[in-house]
Amino acid sequence: MDDKIILTGIKPTGTPHIGNYIGALLPLIKMSENHKTFMFIADLHALNAMHDAKEIRQHTYEEAALMIACGLNLENTVLFRQSDIDEVYKLTEFLMNVTPKGLMNRAHSYKAIVEKNTEAGIDIDSGVNMGLYTYPVLMAADILLYNSDIVPVGKDQKQHVEFARDIAGYFNNIYGETFKLPEPIIGEDTGYLPGLDGRKMSKSYDNTIPLFAPSNELKKKIMRIITDSKTPEEPKNPDESTIFQIYKAFATPDEIAGFRKMFLDGGMGYGTAKTILFEKIDSALAEKRAKYEYLMSHTDEIDAILEAGAQKARMVAAKTIAKVKKKMLGL
Ligand code: TRP
Repeated sequence: MDDKIILTGIKPTGTPHIGNYIGALLPLIKMSENHKTFMFIADLHALNAMHDAKEIRQHTYEEAALMIACGLNLENTVLFRQSDIDEVYKLTEFLMNVTPKGLMNRAHSYKAIVEKNTEAGIDIDSGVNMGLYTYPVLMAADILLYNSDIVPVGKDQKQHVEFARDIAGYFNNIYGETFKLPEPIIGEDTGYLPGLDGRKMSKSYDNTIPLFAPSNELKKKIMRIITDSKTPEEPKNPDESTIFQIYKAFATPDEIAGFRKMFLDGGMGYGTAKTILFEKIDSALAEKRAKYEYLMSHTDEIDAILEAGAQKARMVAAKTIAKVKKKMLGL
C-alpha cells in the first residue's frame, strides 16, 4: 500500500450493466483494496438534469448497494453520499472565485450543447442551467476537499479532473501552496466488453446486459446476442464471438481454454454457447445479486454505512475548509 489517496464519485444514474461491472467497478474495488479510498455517490451532480428527488434517492441506494454487494472493502474505503457533506457546498463557492469563466466555456460537455444549439439555430445556452455550467467546479471541490492524489474516471471525465488540477493551481498561485494537484487515471479502453450487438456495451447503444437482473431476464438478454449464421457443426472463431468475449471476463483460464476449444472444434451451436455463457454469469453473480437484493430491501443498513462514511469524510473536509477560510478570508 502506498499512501496515495484515491477518490472517485459515481453519479446515481440507474441500472448498472455487466460492462460497467467488468470495466469500471471491479478495477475500482481492486484498487481500493490497498489504498485509502474516498468513494461517494454524486447525487448533487445529478441535480442539473434529474428533477425527481425520489428517483435520485433510489438510484443513490442502488449505486451504494452495488458497491457494497460487489465487495468494496469498507475498512479502507470511506463510502458516502456527496450531499451529506456540507463542506462541499462551501468549497464549491470558494473555488468559484478562482475559476475563470473561460475554463467552463471549454468544458466538452458544455461545448457539445452549445454546438447542438448553434446548429439548431437557437440561443447557444438554451437548456443550460448553472448547475450544468459549473459542474466542473463542484467536481473540483469533491476532489480537492479530500486531498486526493488519484482520481480513477472514465474517459469522458478526464477533462474534469484536469480542470480540478487547474483550479487547484490557480488557488495555489494566489494563496500559496494549499491543494495537492490530483491526477486522473483513465479506465483502460481495452478492458471493455462487447454488448448484445457486438459494439461496446453501453447504455447509449441500448445493447447492455443488466448486472443484477433476475435469472430468467438475464437468460432472455443473453439469448439475444447477435451471432453470425454458422451452423452448429461448423468450427467458429472465438475471438470474433461476443459470446466468447463476455465469457472470458467471468471464467477461469481453464474454463476459457475449454470453451475456446469448443468453438474451434465445431459441433456447438450458438444456442448452446449462449446457455453456457448464461450459466457462467448467473452463477458468478448469484451471491452478489443476493446481497444486492438484501440491501435494497434493507435500505436502513445502507443509510448506516453511508452515515458512518459521512462522519469520516466530514473530519477531513472540515480541515480543508478551515484552511481555505483562513487563506481567503483571514478567519
Ligand atoms: N462527474 C462524474 C461522472 O459523471 C462523477 C463525479 C462527481 C466524480 N464528482 C467526482 C468522479 C469526483 C470523480 C471525482 O461520472
